[in-house]
Amino acid sequence: MTWRTVVGTLATFVTTIVVAFWLINEPARMKEAEDGFAGRSMEAGAAIYENNCTRCHGPAGGGLVGLAPAINNPALFDGSRLAEVGWAGSLHDFVYSTISGGRPLASSGTTWPQRMPTWSTEYGGPLRHDQVRDVTAFVLNWGRAYEEGITALQNPETATTSMEPIDAVGIDINTPELPPGNPDDGEALTVSLGCTACHIQTEVGPAWLAENHPDGTGIGTRSGERIDAADYTGAATTAEQYLRESIVRTNDYVVEGYEPGIMVATYGETLTAQNLSDIISYLITLK
Ligand code: HEC
Ligand code: HEC
Repeated sequence: MTWRTVVGTLATFVTTIVVAFWLINEPARMKEAEDGFAGRSMEAGAAIYENNCTRCHGPAGGGLVGLAPAINNPALFDGSRLAEVGWAGSLHDFVYSTISGGRPLASSGTTWPQRMPTWSTEYGGPLRHDQVRDVTAFVLNWGRAYEEGITALQNPETATTSMEPIDAVGIDINTPELPPGNPDDGEALTVSLGCTACHIQTEVGPAWLAENHPDGTGIGTRSGERIDAADYTGAATTAEQYLRESIVRTNDYVVEGYEPGIMVATYGETLTAQNLSDIISYLITLK
C-alpha cells in the first residue's frame, strides 16, 4: 500500500461517516426547519388576525354577539360545519377560500348585519396570498388545540354560524330606554368594535383619555361640556345622551377640527341597547 492509497481510503472512510451522520440527522433537521417555518407563518398569521379579524370574530376567535360567529368553534374542526354546508374539500381549503373570498353577498343567505369581507387581493381584498395562508394557519391552529382536548374559548351564544337579525338599538337618542350598563363590558366592546383604533391608539377621532387630550379632559367630562357650547348642533341635554348621539347619530354634531363621515355611522344598526348602554357607562368614567 502506498501512502496515497492509505490517505485515499481514510478520506473515503471519513467522508462516508460524515455523510451517514448527516443523513441520520436529516429528518430531525427537516422537521426543525418545517416547525420553524410553520411557527413563523403562525406568528405572522396571529398579527394579521389581530389587525383584521378581532373586531368581528373577537380576540380569541370566540365570536362577538351580533357581529360574527365563533371560528374557534369545535363544529368547524370536527367536520360537522363542513357537512352542514356540503363542503366536499378539506378543512384547510374551506377556511382558506372563505377568508380569500369572504361572504360579501346578501345572496349567500347570510343574516349577519355586516358581511364577512373579501380578504385576498385576488378578489380585490387587502391581503396577499401568503398573508391569507398565514392567517389560515393561525385559525387552523385552534383546531389543533381542540384535538388536544383544550376546550375552545368560545361563548356559546356565538357558536352558531347563522343568526337571527339582532334587535338593534336604532338611531333615536331617547327611545328605547337603555338598560343599566356594565362599564367593563363597555370597555371590552370599545376594543372589539375598533373604537379604540381611532380614539385611543391614534387620534383619527377626538382622544378619549384625559392625558391624550389637549385640554386635559377625558370624554366623560367633555360630553357634559359639549352640549353647553355655542357651536353645539345636536339635541342632547345630558352627558349620557350626548354620548348616545355621538355613537348612533355621529354627524348630528361634528367635533371642531374633525370631518364628518369618518366615524362609522352604522352603530345604531349593529349595536343592541345593552351594547350601547355598556359603552356609554364606560365612556362616562373617563373623566
Ligand atoms: C366585518 C366583520 C368581519 C371581519 C372583519 C371578519 N369576518 Fe370572518 N365572518 C364574518 C361573518 C359575519 C361571518 C359569517 C358569514 C356567513 O356565514 O354569512 C364570517 C365567517 C368567517 C369564517 C367562516 C366560518 C364558518 O363556520 O363558516 C371564517 C373562517 C372567517 N370568517 C375568518 C375570518 C378571518 C380570518 C378574518 C380576518 C382576516 C375575518 N374573518 C374577518 C364577519 C367578519
Ligand atoms: C374610523 C374612526 C372612528 C371609529 C372607528 C370610531 N370613531 Fe368615534 N369619532 C371619530 C371622529 C373622526 C369623531 C369626530 C367627528 C364627530 O364628532 O363625528 C368621533 C367622535 C366621537 C365621539 C364624540 C367625541 C367628543 O369629543 O365629543 C364619541 C363619543 C365617539 N366618537 C365614540 C365612538 C365609539 C363608542 C366608537 C365605537 C363604537 C367610535 N367612536 C368609533 C372617529 C371614529
